[in-house]
Amino acid sequence: MTRDPFDWIDAHAERRRAAGLVRTLRPRPAHSPLLDLASNDYLGLAHHPEVTRAGADACLHWGAGSTGSRLVTGSTQLHAELEAELAAFCGFEAALVLASGYAANLAAVTALTTEPGTLIVSDSGNHASLIDGCRLSRAGTEVVPHADTDALRKALGGHDGPAVAVTDSVFSVDGDAAPLRAMAAACAEHGAALLVDDAHGLGVLGPGGRGAAAEAGLAGAPGLVCTATLSKSLGSQGGVVLGPARVIEHLVNAARTFIFDTGLAPAATGAALGALRLLRREPERAVRARAVARELYERLAGAGLDATAPDACVVSVRAPSPEAAVEWAAACRSAGLAVGCFRPPSVPDGISRLRLTARADLTDREIGDAVGTIVRTAPPRP
Ligand SMILES: Cc1ncc(COP(=O)(O)O)c(C=O)c1O
Repeated sequence: MTRDPFDWIDAHAERRRAAGLVRTLRPRPAHSPLLDLASNDYLGLAHHPEVTRAGADACLHWGAGSTGSRLVTGSTQLHAELEAELAAFCGFEAALVLASGYAANLAAVTALTTEPGTLIVSDSGNHASLIDGCRLSRAGTEVVPHADTDALRKALGGHDGPAVAVTDSVFSVDGDAAPLRAMAAACAEHGAALLVDDAHGLGVLGPGGRGAAAEAGLAGAPGLVCTATLSKSLGSQGGVVLGPARVIEHLVNAARTFIFDTGLAPAATGAALGALRLLRREPERAVRARAVARELYERLAGAGLDATAPDACVVSVRAPSPEAAVEWAAACRSAGLAVGCFRPPSVPDGISRLRLTARADLTDREIGDAVGTIVRTAPPRP
């Protein structure tokens, strides 16, 4: 009898069902009637007419696709402009745009560990794309407890050779910020590089949204490389690596997710550039996004919910179980509010949560409505 090669999948599906961890896709309409506290559109730019127009113009002028790897036919003047403006805005010598933030993290981690014997020291709360970068690099990786600079210092001190410390700037689950200044000091003491994924910091932290490195006074520091996605605050799609010019030149020659991937589509490149220019003109968007996050947190915590104090735009509220989190998110949805629902394996500590993202364009009334819905639909405390 022949064996069906996919039979094993059913057992996995059953285990997921039993654990309350089944994920499903829910297509959303272009203009959802739900109040959105689930997307990463922190500055409310994904639908901004100036940004969509910049994307559409780029598509009409440069074509629907970039037609090849950046090293073959896929590099346009638009990519070069976006790189120059991102580097200048964030305070770095150079920038390299890739097809996604995920690809940018894989590129940065693997390229920075090219030298044999390089040690990676990685925060236990890091995003999956940084973790996958560590795996792909095949470099020795020491995972240290979350936001623990002493553990970082100890790991670096115990290694003789090149090293890279890798961290999110703002952690995507609880929205807390990494101790970047202390980490940079520890790295400098040991001649190690620091790689910071600023996916949740760009556009929100630092003066005018220049990012976590600018906020920490580290932008352009010689040992620092930052990555970011263009899909959150900039409302578009794509990723970027920012750092010293020789690091960026090394990535162009060594980063496989840059070399062997089609360049970012012109529409996304143009939209990101449009969003960046708009943010430069309207820096108050960054301030408002942070204020909305703070307001959400204070009102939810004030109502007795177990919410995390946000360092940027992410507020998470703990749920007693994966099932309770799913039911809570569904009850919010039925009441007209879209919230994120994080469960294992997306949460390193196994705690299920509602994940709320603040947006600069939320009105005070919308904030009040959202808080009212979340509090009203909360599961009973265990
Ligand atoms: C911290 C962090 N890094 C990287 C990424 C990946 O970026 P992208 O969606 O552009 O691939 C995300 C999420 O999207 C993220 O939250």
